[in-house]
Amino acid sequence: MTTTLKYGIEVLRDPVLNKSTAFTEAEKQALGLVGLLPEVTETEDLQLQRVMLQLSRKNTDLERYIYLVNLLDHNEALFYRTVMSDPARFLPIVYDPTIGEACLQFGHIYRQPRGMYLSIMRRGHVKGVLKNWPRKDVRFICVTDGGRILGLGDLGANGAPIPIGKLQLYTACAGVPPQYLLPMYLDAGTNNEHYLQDPLYLGMRKTRPPAEELYSFVDEFVEAVQEVFPKCCIHFEDWTGSDAVHLLQRYRNKYCVYNDDVQGTAGIVLAGMINAVKIKGTKLTDEKYLFLGAGSAAIGLADLICSAMVRQGMKLKDAQARVYLFDINGLLEDSRKDLFDFQKPYAHRHAPTRDFAAAIESVKPTTIIGVSTVGGLFRQRVVESMSGINERPVIFALSNPTDHAECTPEQAYTWSKGKAIYAAGVQFPPVHLNGQTFLPGQANNFYVFPAIGMAVFATQASRITDEMFIEAAQAVADQVPSELLKQGLLFPLQQNILESEIQTAARVAKLVFDSGLARVERPADLVAFIRQQVYRPDYADLAPATRAA
Ligand code: NAI
Repeated sequence: MTTTLKYGIEVLRDPVLNKSTAFTEAEKQALGLVGLLPEVTETEDLQLQRVMLQLSRKNTDLERYIYLVNLLDHNEALFYRTVMSDPARFLPIVYDPTIGEACLQFGHIYRQPRGMYLSIMRRGHVKGVLKNWPRKDVRFICVTDGGRILGLGDLGANGAPIPIGKLQLYTACAGVPPQYLLPMYLDAGTNNEHYLQDPLYLGMRKTRPPAEELYSFVDEFVEAVQEVFPKCCIHFEDWTGSDAVHLLQRYRNKYCVYNDDVQGTAGIVLAGMINAVKIKGTKLTDEKYLFLGAGSAAIGLADLICSAMVRQGMKLKDAQARVYLFDINGLLEDSRKDLFDFQKPYAHRHAPTRDFAAAIESVKPTTIIGVSTVGGLFRQRVVESMSGINERPVIFALSNPTDHAECTPEQAYTWSKGKAIYAAGVQFPPVHLNGQTFLPGQANNFYVFPAIGMAVFATQASRITDEMFIEAAQAVADQVPSELLKQGLLFPLQQNILESEIQTAARVAKLVFDSGLARVERPADLVAFIRQQVYRPDYADLAPATRAA
């Protein structure tokens, strides 16, 4: 039984309390709702049926997204019931790829505020601003400055839907209760001329400050969070590559923080690699990796793959020698003068080249990983070169949204004559080729970060470590049945995502306890411990609390 001080129309206006047509007669009487609702008491299933009917009448996924956001504004449980009823169908609507479209149009489709908007103009007052948030126990803040939204570049305030959507996945995929989640947009301006000129743009109309000014603002924010929400973990999302890596290095050993583009991407791609080598019958340490892209996703992944190889007994230097990166200026090699420190371990002795296919011919990778933000760069010649030198080339085309994928699964399977082991950053349908069906997996971080989130929530972990992402990767990989692996599927089925993430969270929680990072007592049964804390989208029985006189 949940008691509330709210009464009458106030109950219907609160998305956490509102059950719309599902209030019982007793609740209607007690809460002053008689006459404010139709004369029915519907089940949650019947309400879900109506939502599905209304969704089926929408013509585009963006319209479905807007409808679902509106549903969340009115009835939180029904929103999560809808999304959790069919994750494979709804995750691409509440998150990628539809959210990319929602970001591009944010100022135009905006209806209601959600989460917080903290501008650099509030410097010196950040703590006070955070105190305006109505809840005191916040466990996760997902924060972006809109610097690099998906593969769409600097969108400034139009990036605000990203932390909102990302945190919804904590709940929808891993059952983290939504009341502990706070989406946050840090507004430091934008260099996007298009938005600066748009009268409906919702951010500060200023270009971005120098990096040091931004970092000192982020310092104030991170320190204020420690005081205002002491149990909170900060999840950085969609910052530009260099900001992402610098900020992670700045805080990771001091506070409970992580960057999903760096570590979450790395975790899920490592899971895909673990299964790719299972299919090939090799080991991670046998592979040679060439990345297209050398930004935050590439660096996070290269570092985590190296850590995983070190775990398998290889020296770090030898592991790094098996990883090559290629960016907008060509192959990273030791004569390049434009590299960040964090890229240098992967700049090996090699002649300069700006031709990716030529780099394949000379480096002879077994695996290519596209994190370049640019669609179509794995051309036919690239895939054919990879198949020429490998029995089973591993081809991961991870940039998103959909039209930014470096190649489609159809292209990878066709050009490699069915030899490629393929994964993308977005969901593609199965491919039928020469009587065979291939299941292209989606290397989506949502298999990893919500489970890490659930483990951190349940254990109140004080830090997030790379080992936690490696453990999550192994746990995700272990959950793909061998018959699906044979069809090329590298990740678990999305239909079972909640159960899969509970298992992953329990394995990560074990590591948290083993590493001494937990701030709660260790339970006997970790799966049961996680399961107990999972949010279920069910209505509570409501009763009025006695009002103070
Ligand atoms: P970033 O902006 O930090 O890095 C992009 C990199 O690509 C840079 O090194 C740049 O030099 C390089 N690049 C750009 N154009 C190129 C070209 N024509 N040829 C060669 N290199 C080129 O971006 P970040 O964070 O590394 O993300 C990259 C992509 O990965 C994005 O599209 C993002 O959506 C995707 N991504 C996918 C994830 C997943 O599938 N699980 C998770 C995170 C990111």
